[in-house]
Amino acid sequence: QQFTVVVPAAGVGKRMQTDVPKQYLPILGKTLLEQCLDNLIAHPRIKHIVVALHPRDPYFADLPVAKAPWLTRVDGGKERADSVLAGLNVLDDEWVLVHDAARPCLPHQDLDALLALADGEQGGILAYAVRDTMKQADKTGCVAATLDRSNMWHALTPQFFPLAVLRDALTKALNAQAVITDEASAMEWAGQSVKLVEANPCNIKVTQPVDLMLAEFYLSKLLNNGRS
Ligand code: CTP
Ligand code: MG
Repeated sequence: QQFTVVVPAAGVGKRMQTDVPKQYLPILGKTLLEQCLDNLIAHPRIKHIVVALHPRDPYFADLPVAKAPWLTRVDGGKERADSVLAGLNVLDDEWVLVHDAARPCLPHQDLDALLALADGEQGGILAYAVRDTMKQADKTGCVAATLDRSNMWHALTPQFFPLAVLRDALTKALNAQAVITDEASAMEWAGQSVKLVEANPCNIKVTQPVDLMLAEFYLSKLLNNGRS
């Protein structure tokens, strides 16, 4: 069985503080977005990618990947969830993956582990356990409480769910103006259970300037290891 990935890439990358949106920054000779797409399509079980772009994106059309036969382009929306939903709305697959354009370092081994969920009924996400002690802050910038980190996880992407259930959950959660920062939060909001699949912490989201060098390091390792 082969799968489609929706890749939200319509953000402006405010926290990166560059003129060009971060998905178009260079990393190992290509843009971040191209490295991300190349890595996904190189996996034998990925057949199709839907990329959500800013409606007036001036960069994408000039990339060689824009003409790839396995790629569909849609207009993204105001928030990440709107962009993802625009992608889901052009699909009729049974299952769907959603993966951030800003994560070029996804090991294929982790993708294999996530895709194994398609043998059951319950979707899930890649995640890794929190290592630092977690503090909750009060309004004055002081510690209000120390949280129990033993059951806390970092949520990564890809996130993998039955398409119809995810589309329904995202649509309803957005209509209810719930705070939706990933697909899992929409599924949780809809009362669906979400499996945590333990993943490699190298799959970082390039968010701040310091992340680009780290992503370059992890990506070169990944490419040297045959993407596993
Ligand atoms: N994204 C999107 N549509 C939006 C907002 C974000 O498709 N309206 C995408 C981004 O392009 C990125 C992914 O969602 O690939 C994860 O979002 P994030 O890391 O927050 O990227 P930005 O929103 O671009 O960055 P920032 O929050 O710093 O502005
Ligand atoms: Mg954002």
